[in-house]
Amino acid sequence: MIAGLDPAKIPAHVAIIMDGNGRWAKARHLPRVMGHREGMKSVRAVIETARKVGVKVLTLYAFSKENWQRPKDEVSFLMKLLSEYLQKEVDELHEKDVQIRAIGEIELLPANVLELLKAAIEKTAKNQGLILNLALSYGGRAEIAQAARLIAQAVLKGELKPSEIDEALFARFLYTKDLPDPDLLIRTSGEMRLSNFLLYQTAYTELYFTETLWPDFREEEFIKALKDYQRRERRFGKISEQIHG
Ligand code: IPE
Ligand code: IPE
Ligand code: MG
Repeated sequence: MIAGLDPAKIPAHVAIIMDGNGRWAKARHLPRVMGHREGMKSVRAVIETARKVGVKVLTLYAFSKENWQRPKDEVSFLMKLLSEYLQKEVDELHEKDVQIRAIGEIELLPANVLELLKAAIEKTAKNQGLILNLALSYGGRAEIAQAARLIAQAVLKGELKPSEIDEALFARFLYTKDLPDPDLLIRTSGEMRLSNFLLYQTAYTELYFTETLWPDFREEEFIKALKDYQRRERRFGKISEQIHG
């Protein structure tokens, strides 16, 4: 274990809003897309660190539903990067026992990307190591609305009674149905907002914001975030004395 980290307090689920690629590139007078390319190295670094310290689920916000509105060239580049990633790295992730999953409206992805993604999910489905959950074409409100729609359909079909709809049942209609809620959410680049990420699931998530831009967020920065998390007291509405007994 890495010095200074308490192995008993490793967050089971870490979610990351990988932000600041464009600004990283701009600061170097490079085109924005070079920031995305450099950001891929941070993706590799955080996956490795997550495996090393024993995080069970790593959710990466890679492309939001709103990101479709970016300039066409940037969207195409991001899709190309994603397909490159899936082509080059899935074998290695598979060898490392990583289970790949995706959340979001993935059917909106270009056909070739969707095919690669589905193949990666299928290939790694039985793996028992880190769950790498990719948020792609993801929107939190869309996810909640979709759950409401599915629940309404189940009620109409008589499979479900309105009185049975509670928080736990609702969660079973979300993309994340078989995952724990995130314990820690990290956002890089200094922006302090959720940008439509995991709105239902982050009710009691610890939030960590850093000025560091995503391409500069590597193992050291990740460990720093984990240490910050470990210093916090999660009360879930109770008082301190109830937590410590
Ligand atoms: C995050 O970096 C990557 C994606 C949203 C795909 P940005 O591209 O948002 O970088 P900034 O925020 O413009 O610096
Ligand atoms: C959030 O970043 C989405 C991802 C990191 C994939 P954005 O850069 O799109 O967020 P806003 O638009 O600044 O809130
Ligand atoms: Mg951004």
